[in-house]
Amino acid sequence: MALAIHFHDQLQQPPAASLREETLAGFAATPKWASPKFFYDRRGSELFEQICQQPEYYITRTEERILADAANDILDIAGPHSDLIELGSGASRKVRLLLEALHPSSYLGIDISEDFLLSSTQRLAADYPWLEVHAACTDFSQQLCLPDDFASHHPLVFFPGSSIGNFTPLEARRFLHRLHDVLPLGGGLLIGVDLVKERSRLEAAYNDEAHVTAAFNLNLLQRIRDELDSDIDPSRFVHRAYFNEAESRIEMHLISPAAQDVTIEGQRFHFEAGESLHTENSYKYTLESFKQLASSAGFDSRGQWTDAQALFSVHYLQRR
Ligand code: AVI
Repeated sequence: MALAIHFHDQLQQPPAASLREETLAGFAATPKWASPKFFYDRRGSELFEQICQQPEYYITRTEERILADAANDILDIAGPHSDLIELGSGASRKVRLLLEALHPSSYLGIDISEDFLLSSTQRLAADYPWLEVHAACTDFSQQLCLPDDFASHHPLVFFPGSSIGNFTPLEARRFLHRLHDVLPLGGGLLIGVDLVKERSRLEAAYNDEAHVTAAFNLNLLQRIRDELDSDIDPSRFVHRAYFNEAESRIEMHLISPAAQDVTIEGQRFHFEAGESLHTENSYKYTLESFKQLASSAGFDSRGQWTDAQALFSVHYLQRR
């Protein structure tokens, strides 16, 4: 039987063009940077799924436990028959915990990785035959619009995994503002937010012993090599991740241990020995600092849940 996935390609963007432009801009900057959204080609998405299973990466399993425990409370707040919209849906695993409890009318998965999005929404459609499944491949960090039928009904946006932490606090506020503007009054946002904690625990999560996070970080260079005209060699860079306490963020970098030149799309870039390409920030919040951020973007807190060790938090926010 053919499964009905409603694919919204009016929301589609050309990721390859922005990979080229943003890579050239980032390599020309001082210090050099690359955007973490380009981690997520098929290989990167698979590596990210593996990261989520590493013993050091507490985020995924802690959030899943919180969601499972809070599912009935969430239903009490959201009510039945919501239109569930998942941002950065990836493998669409966590949302299964909500589908069982909330029994929404429809589901829309939005992700930047098209083939990953299609395979995961197809699995959802097969596993939940009663659910109307939609998919949209788009870079929601740049452009946020919802298909009309989703914006007008009873939307509940699900943004798990502390992906909000990959924006700077200013970008996060702007993003929440945009979300506020596309949601109707009373629309919900269920969002996972990682919490500040001791350095050792945070740093271990981004330096797993199996080196999966290192492979994920280095895959960004492989992607530049494969998709752009480039001689960059990932084996000439090493992964580094540490907690920058003053900024309350984990920083991921790719370090060039030796001086080298790389060419991308005909442009040459020089790395000094020890120079870094900054690839990702992952901001950590307190319950209070996150609620303040959400409030400044027009959302009221309707509920919040944490685990017993207060490693992670899930917030139900409502558009004011
Ligand atoms: C998707 N995002 C919330 C992850 C994080 O923890 O910042 C991405 C990641 N980077 C390294 N490990 C996981």
